[in-house]
Amino acid sequence: MRFNSVGFALSVGMLLVVVLIGFTLLSAAGLVGFAADDVEVAQCGVGGPSDNVNPVQLIAENAKPLTGPEAAEVAAGDALFKGNCAQCHAVNEQVVGPALGGLTNRRPMSWILPWVKNSSKVVASGDEYAVAVFNKFNKQQIPSFALSDKEITSIVAYINSQEGTSMAIAAAH
Ligand code: HEC
Repeated sequence: MRFNSVGFALSVGMLLVVVLIGFTLLSAAGLVGFAADDVEVAQCGVGGPSDNVNPVQLIAENAKPLTGPEAAEVAAGDALFKGNCAQCHAVNEQVVGPALGGLTNRRPMSWILPWVKNSSKVVASGDEYAVAVFNKFNKQQIPSFALSDKEITSIVAYINSQEGTSMAIAAAH
């Protein structure tokens, strides 16, 4: 009798362990679980049904709609970026030059404008940041661009708009 109840307790214990392991494996495989997607999506302020949500689509739906002038500026910046900068730069990854995402957190417009117009002049002025980034990229010359302040500002607006998108996608994952 005593022996039997110990055996019973052992089998129940084993069963619990097996169930626990099984559940852990299943939840690791994403088959069952605590709807982690719901939590993350809610954090993004997205809400709505969470099954099979395509994060990119969510962002597109929830991206702050740009108003007329802003949208026009970003579109102009997009074209200028593709025509002048994209062969060496991407917003979120290093290509020939550094990733330009977050640029306005690193450098003020008063630095960015003269840099794009003539980076060697900024390097020659002894500007610490310019010298450092120039050396880091093996003293590769970035071409001087005959772009207006307005055009460069629109490129920066485009960079910022892209950066927001990628951050939102990262947050939705
Ligand atoms: C031929 C390649 C090339 C092109 C085209 C180019 N860049 Fe660059 N860029 C670089 C390199 C290389 C660096 C790194 C600094 C250096 O070597 O002088 C750089 C650095 C920069 C930096 C400093 C980045 C940082 O994070 O500090 C900015 C801003 C920048 N480029 C903007 C632009 C913009 C805007 C355009 C288009 C109008 C452009 N670049 C076109 C190669 C290029």
